[in-house]
Amino acid sequence: MPALDAAQAAHAQRVLAALRAHIAARGGWIRFDEYLELVLYAPGLGYYSAGAAKLGAAGDFITAPELSALFGACVARACAPLLADGGEILELGAGSGALAESLLLRLAELDALPSRYGILEVSADLRERQCARLDALAPALRARLHWLDALPSRQLRGVILANEVADALPFRCFRVTERGYDERGVALDADGLPRWAERAADPALHAELERLSAALPSPLAPGHCGELCLPLNAWMAGLAGVLEHGAMLQFDYGLGRAELYHAQRTGGTLRCHYRHRAHADPFWRPGLQDITAWVDFTRLADAAAAAGLDVAGYCTQAAFLLGAGIDAELGRAGDALEQARRASEARQLLLPGEMGETFKAMLLTRGQVAAAARQAFSVQDLRRLL
Ligand SMILES: C[S@@+](CC[C@H](N)C(=O)[O-])C[C@H]1O[C@@H](n2cnc3c(N)ncnc32)[C@H](O)[C@@H]1O
Repeated sequence: MPALDAAQAAHAQRVLAALRAHIAARGGWIRFDEYLELVLYAPGLGYYSAGAAKLGAAGDFITAPELSALFGACVARACAPLLADGGEILELGAGSGALAESLLLRLAELDALPSRYGILEVSADLRERQCARLDALAPALRARLHWLDALPSRQLRGVILANEVADALPFRCFRVTERGYDERGVALDADGLPRWAERAADPALHAELERLSAALPSPLAPGHCGELCLPLNAWMAGLAGVLEHGAMLQFDYGLGRAELYHAQRTGGTLRCHYRHRAHADPFWRPGLQDITAWVDFTRLADAAAAAGLDVAGYCTQAAFLLGAGIDAELGRAGDALEQARRASEARQLLLPGEMGETFKAMLLTRGQVAAAARQAFSVQDLRRLL
């Protein structure tokens, strides 16, 4: 791992001090989702809430909209049929603002601009970065943007978008034992550093794991470690409640439940990202690295259906981009250099060994939506895997 500079080392010490105080105040042990709340989102301290670059080449990881404006252009083609008659967009967790920028620019060319473009971002630092970037847009586009502190109290018609947000919600960790389930939480070692510490699962987690195990083709076996994102249900219910008519597009890395909790995946999917290196130690430099787990798309779909949405499409990111017309977008590129650059970006977005297969796209709708809105999901239908 690259060495830390003085400012990073000082920041890591501040996060560690807050963590020690929090764990001590809670009697020496905290759940893993509480750990994530602190090291990812505590104001001024957490990874997403402090000043590091995070996204892009100079940060720790790269997302599809950061990689290429082609992603936003394809999302624009998928959204355009849903934005007629004053439709709006609401984007969750907009990162650096890259998706909002590429999407608005392409929607303007398609003559399908939303009447308003709201961004709900939990990180004050990222919100500032988004504002700074999007302030450079033409006034006719910039005027449509506004930031929200919470979900709007009124409903909207149009599109709700989230790219790599579900994987950023705090999750809990478990291990199946011979006698039931243990919760994998966090305590301090003799040097005052965070480490895994297991306790018998509380009744709520136990019941949830029993439900999960019963829903799998073969039950969870002793030794199986994994992650469970319980807030996903309430998060989806909240988003669905805002959508009066139209669609929600969710993009993330993940799998349907049977594959995610398959007996061959007994180590779980927790991953940490620092300077484009991935590893599995969530206690390495708390506050300086991103920590995520793959999304259970079955949980997402079930929560959406329970909130009255139709699960209208589920496919790989590659199939979504092909269905949305990435070929046509590539054909629009300018000179030979630009074409070569875009072709290389398209490969990274599409290839199975890159982002094409691990990342999935899900279309959730409410009401009758234009058939053209489903075009992006016409190349592949993976809903049987949910
Ligand atoms: C992995 S980043 C993805 C950023 C961006 N969507 C992209 O694709 O480049 C996760 C983003 O979700 C935000 N976030 C996390 N939890 C959130 C929540 N409950 N509501 C809205 N945004 C959230 C983070 O602050 C961050 O902007």
